Amino acid sequence: MSNDAPNTYQQAYQEASDHPDAFWLQQANRIQWVRKPTRGATEDDEGLTRWYADGELNTSWLALDAHVEAGRADQTALIYDSPVTGRQQTYSYAELLDRVKRTAGFLAHLGVTKGDRVVIYMPMVPEAVIGMLACARLGAIHSVVFGGFAARELAVRIDDARPKVVLSASCGIEVDRVIPYTPMLNEAWSLAEHKPESAVILQRDQARAELTEGRDHDWAELEARAEPADWVAVKATDPLYILYTSGTTGKPKGVVRDNGGHAVAMHYSMEVVYGMKPGQVFWAASDVGWVVGHSYIVYGPLIYGCTTILYEGKPVRTPDAGAFWRVIDEHRVNALFTAPTAFRAVKKEDPNGDLMASYDLTSLQRLFLAGERLDPPTYDWLKERTGLPVLDHWWQTETGWAIACNPVGLEELPEKAGSATVPTPGFQVTILDPAGEPCAANEQGAVCVKLPLPPGCLPTIWGDNERFHNAYLSAFPGYYLSGDGGYLDEDGYLFIMGRVDDVINVAGHRLSTGEMEAVVASHPAVAECAVFGVQDDLKGQVPLGMVVLKDGQTPDLAELEQELVALVRQQIGAVACFRRALVVDRLPKTRSGKILRRTLRQIANGEQYQVPSTIDDPAILDEVSTRLQP
Ligand code: COA
Ligand code: AMP
Repeated sequence: MSNDAPNTYQQAYQEASDHPDAFWLQQANRIQWVRKPTRGATEDDEGLTRWYADGELNTSWLALDAHVEAGRADQTALIYDSPVTGRQQTYSYAELLDRVKRTAGFLAHLGVTKGDRVVIYMPMVPEAVIGMLACARLGAIHSVVFGGFAARELAVRIDDARPKVVLSASCGIEVDRVIPYTPMLNEAWSLAEHKPESAVILQRDQARAELTEGRDHDWAELEARAEPADWVAVKATDPLYILYTSGTTGKPKGVVRDNGGHAVAMHYSMEVVYGMKPGQVFWAASDVGWVVGHSYIVYGPLIYGCTTILYEGKPVRTPDAGAFWRVIDEHRVNALFTAPTAFRAVKKEDPNGDLMASYDLTSLQRLFLAGERLDPPTYDWLKERTGLPVLDHWWQTETGWAIACNPVGLEELPEKAGSATVPTPGFQVTILDPAGEPCAANEQGAVCVKLPLPPGCLPTIWGDNERFHNAYLSAFPGYYLSGDGGYLDEDGYLFIMGRVDDVINVAGHRLSTGEMEAVVASHPAVAECAVFGVQDDLKGQVPLGMVVLKDGQTPDLAELEQELVALVRQQIGAVACFRRALVVDRLPKTRSGKILRRTLRQIANGEQYQVPSTIDDPAILDEVSTRLQP
């Protein structure tokens, strides 16, 4: 490999594929280490691939102190823009560092040390980011739980991560609805078997919480009294965070992110995937509870020295469909990253984009979309209205950064509607047929990535190496199984066609239909059920349940549907958007008794389908089709 950095996409892709260690050690030189790594990808004692095993660093130092020490203390690090509270606040790198030091100080005072877990269940307030960076400063491992999840989901995560402390807030705000968090926290506390030692509650004026004596602390009081804490060096392979994501079973998977590989991947992706320069303004309109929020609200922009935006609002209704354009104008945003569903919502309320005319959008250079399929009407609308590059890119919680993108920092490749463009350097994307053979161009198959995965991707699932192996590595030896289907065209462009498992994407939120099935099946009247995703104009997909009742059950069907909807909302959360449950006499099954969910989904979506040869009784499909008529 040459000493010069590759400067075309092909060169970079080839070098990262042919000489991954050399390529990624060179990238590692671009960030600051306590101890620079000399090793690329190696196998640890448990057979897991780890990047930079002999490196040491601190991610929080890299994201804050490094910029302050380099003379950029006064540069804006974070802009909090909250239309739901009418507040805006700007933090320089020095100010953010000061708050992180104090927060780390009170966490240390509560006994949090390197390797301890801290669960963060918070709305989109600066303290959520501060809490994450404070954990990283101490070498503690944070696990952020999205605020839209219900108490039971929080409890499952508390039991799996076994945190010492929980950071939370008195409430979140959904447009104009105040959602108290402490009742959910209290319920999760009683549901979970593991009892954390304490909770720290950020009191918000919109609804103050009653603190539980002996367990809860007031965030502001602790921070005011705290001694600033210094950072500690951690191994590159030490976990930075655990982020739970939906799998095919009821139990979410704790995706582990290490410190070293992640920092290198964040730095590299800010430059290559997003084409950013330090000092520019990057806005990921997502939530810190999702991977997009971890990577591109918090770590990516700050490690790279950009200004990041924390937006507590929606694309519409806070107060209108011009909200995104306002934020771009007011904060001179250079790049916006969000999910297509956000723009579908904008387009629905402002079809001609009339509200754009009130704002100066000249700072904006590119739009980035991910999280779900970018549908052609949304792509066309955005291109026409903004005249800017509209770049689809494909990734997952597991990888933490883009597996396929338009590598604009190297060279801007021609866009193709419907394609996430090309595999990012480091990801050797291969389409495999069921026998594990590579597919020809334009032939659909399982989208896989040849091992090793590049830095930043999950080394394992928290506490469950076996599940990691079974879920991702065992289907095709030598490859990572993404769970998506798709194809590469004759030019090497990647087209993602959707999940091939029980994961669905609802308004850019990843959810498990298997988990919803388990909740629906727990209703006393339900004998069995199937939950699958159906197309939705706004949210991309929404779940639909089909239910068979136990013998002798004759409930009022409308009431039963309401009960099932309430059950899913209570057990998983409002974010599941489970709103329809249809009662049928029988479900279509194979002769061995497996429910034909794929066929159900095809019928519900009005797609062409073949009657499976394994079906037990084809007549059921007609009955089901009739019930699925809108
Ligand atoms: N806390 C509490 N409740 C929440 C929540 C949170 N953080 N986030 C969502 N919810 C609730 C909503 O209030 C809604 O409740 P309701 O059923 O009582 O109305 C429900 O969960 C569904 O939320 P959502 O799917 O977000 O619907 P919406 O109508 O409120 O908004 C969009 C629709 C498209 C505007 C919105 O989903 C959006 O902006 N999506 C962008 C997606 C995104 O950021 N994805 C992350 C990856 S990039
Ligand atoms: P998450 O882990 O929540 O980021 O969700 C990852 C899943 O979202 C992927 O496996 C895909 O199914 C889907 N996804 C993400 N980005 C895209 C994209 N650009 N095009 C199509 N699907 C996408």
